[in-house]
Amino acid sequence: MTILVTGVAGFIGMHVAQALLARGESVIGVDEFNDYYDVGLKQARVDRLTPHPGFSLHRLDIADREGMESLFSRHPGIEGIIHLAAQAGVRYSLENPYAYVRSNLMGQVVMLEGARRLTRLRHFVYASSSSVYGANDKQPFSVEDPVERPVSLYAATKRADELMTRTYSHLYGMAATGLRFFTVYGPWGRPDMAPFLFASAIAQGRPIRVFNHGDMWRDFTYIDDIVSGVLAALDRPATPDPVAGGDTAPHRIYNLGNNRPERLLDFIAALEDALGRKAERILEPMQPGDVPATYADVAASMRDLGYQPTVTMQDGVARFIAWYRAYYGV
Ligand SMILES: NC(=O)c1ccc[n+]([C@@H]2O[C@H](COP(=O)([O-])OP(=O)(O)OC[C@H]3O[C@@H](n4cnc5c(N)ncnc54)[C@H](O)[C@@H]3O)[C@@H](O)[C@H]2O)c1
Repeated sequence: MTILVTGVAGFIGMHVAQALLARGESVIGVDEFNDYYDVGLKQARVDRLTPHPGFSLHRLDIADREGMESLFSRHPGIEGIIHLAAQAGVRYSLENPYAYVRSNLMGQVVMLEGARRLTRLRHFVYASSSSVYGANDKQPFSVEDPVERPVSLYAATKRADELMTRTYSHLYGMAATGLRFFTVYGPWGRPDMAPFLFASAIAQGRPIRVFNHGDMWRDFTYIDDIVSGVLAALDRPATPDPVAGGDTAPHRIYNLGNNRPERLLDFIAALEDALGRKAERILEPMQPGDVPATYADVAASMRDLGYQPTVTMQDGVARFIAWYRAYYGV
């Protein structure tokens, strides 16, 4: 199969592309290599993919209509799309809201317009986020819960992506699945996220800022479990929900989390163990746009996708730090 993967130079995109290539798919990768974080890391990720004969790379902004239309018209045989390109990050959405509008709203519509015209497309899989649960306090977060109280523009754009995709699915009968990822970590991870920020601060002997005075819980999910969930979703094109009152469009949404929230302080302790160094903690109040706890209900993902997270926090952190040491020569 030929699969279009957007955000291929990103953390999740690179791992997903690698897994697709390993099982014999052809991957058309798209990324604009923006400088939200170290472009060198993005390039190093893609350098792992480019030697593969089944991989091609296109440096493109997904919000660039003409550029993307031209790409779609040159590749009418695309059978699957895994759309991961987005402006990610909760806190940065307070600083630079327009980056989210461009990549996550305009970009999503350009992707949907391209996808609906592909006659051989079997499934459009796209990234959403646990942040759509916003101010919900019912735990664990279930895909059945209402999600009308976002607390960041990032979350609002991800929820908008779900609604816009549902609309296209309804209008054009396009099978589409949205995946709400929960705090993904692991080798080649994102330098703007807590696991990476903490690891580099501890490794360099800098203090770490711990928000909400450490009373934070996260459903940390190891990258390999996420990749398995993404591929399982791709392989099962969404169908209308047969349950009375369920969605009549072939559109589904699933949580991909670990179903086991960890206290942030325990995660930090695991990093300290793996790095063999203690962290100096600066306890700070809750940050605007942030939420104190995320906890995924993955019952529907297990039932429909066969999703089963397997990597424990200790193993995951050890693997992440092994990569970190090798990559940065620590
Ligand atoms: N990592 C997580 O914990 C997490 C959690 C929830 C949701 N997500 C979502 O999963 C997806 C992948 O996340 P990630 O962690 O790999 O992020 P990432 O930032 O590492 O990857 C995103 C990639 O998309 C590219 N990109 C951004 N805007 C683009 C545009 N307009 N055109 C082309 N390329 C563009 C970036 O250059 C980057 O390489 C994103 O949609 C993100 O919102 C991630």
